[in-house]
Amino acid sequence: MITHITRRHAFKKLLALGSSLSLISLFTRKTPAVASNDQPALNMNETLETIHSMRTIHGDFNETDISDRDLETILYASVQAANSSAMQTYSIIVVKNRDIIQKLTGYTGSRLLVYCVDYNRLKASASHLGHQYIPGDMTSFITGSTNTILAAQTAVIAAKSLGIDSLLTNGIHRGDMQRVWDILELPNEHCYPLIALVLGYPNHEPEYRKGRLDGVGVIHHDKYHSLTTVDLEMINNAYNDKTKHLGLRDDWEAQGCKNYLDWLFSKWLGRNDRPAKEETKMFTFLKRSGFVEP
Ligand SMILES: Cc1cc2nc3c(=O)[nH]c(=O)nc-3n(C[C@H](O)[C@H](O)[C@H](O)COP(=O)(O)O)c2cc1C
Repeated sequence: MITHITRRHAFKKLLALGSSLSLISLFTRKTPAVASNDQPALNMNETLETIHSMRTIHGDFNETDISDRDLETILYASVQAANSSAMQTYSIIVVKNRDIIQKLTGYTGSRLLVYCVDYNRLKASASHLGHQYIPGDMTSFITGSTNTILAAQTAVIAAKSLGIDSLLTNGIHRGDMQRVWDILELPNEHCYPLIALVLGYPNHEPEYRKGRLDGVGVIHHDKYHSLTTVDLEMINNAYNDKTKHLGLRDDWEAQGCKNYLDWLFSKWLGRNDRPAKEETKMFTFLKRSGFVEP
């Protein structure tokens, strides 16, 4: 496990010392969130430092705008991501107006990038040359989604490397989803807004960086490992260990829950039976897009 807290403190200390030689040893794995059999030392370099410094700003962005040059740099990096059959089956809609960003996502920030699975450019290119191309099936949607998400995450990393923070949000799927098509004038067919990325600078630095599970149950070696009761208890304990910050929040006990995962399944995922309604609504739009059979 990457010991984020230890490492963050170590990293700060390291920066203060201005030393780069001791970096590798400071980032050496020490206390896994969930036990791993072997805990190799981790390498560290500028790219990995950027990745390890990433954390979400949950909408608390200030009024400072990112520069056009930075935006172009992020977009250019984003489209470098791998993509199936070199088809780049996505579109990125850049939104500058903060009110519109709010309407679309529920959050504000300097810029919004709406990442859509989109086959319309390819369809039009085919038709332009007299070909017929109809991408309407689940394979197209899953492949397109993979391409789209890789481009979005590449933008997140590029932004962070420039000192720009971000929020990936599925706020575009909350409430009346039709607004997203209306505001952005998206084509109804073969275009589906998958994820939104808000970019900006934070008002406040978050108190801590969230940890991650990275051992048993997440990483499987050679074959899938079905979790034992002991594994499950270790995972439960890892989530309960507040120093690891693995969960969404730390106040589950105050909400009457014995374990963090009790809070997750009963209070968070169980609230207002929201997932079921949202899924039905999403499915309606997916059917209209032509990616799933009506
Ligand atoms: C698909 C997706 C949707 C998300 N939606 C939201 C959201 O609507 N609001 C929010 O505050 N954070 C959202 N997040 C951010 C996650 O809450 C965050 O990544 C997670 O808690 C881990 O925290 P970290 O990114 O700071 O390490 C989303 C992340 C993903 C990947």
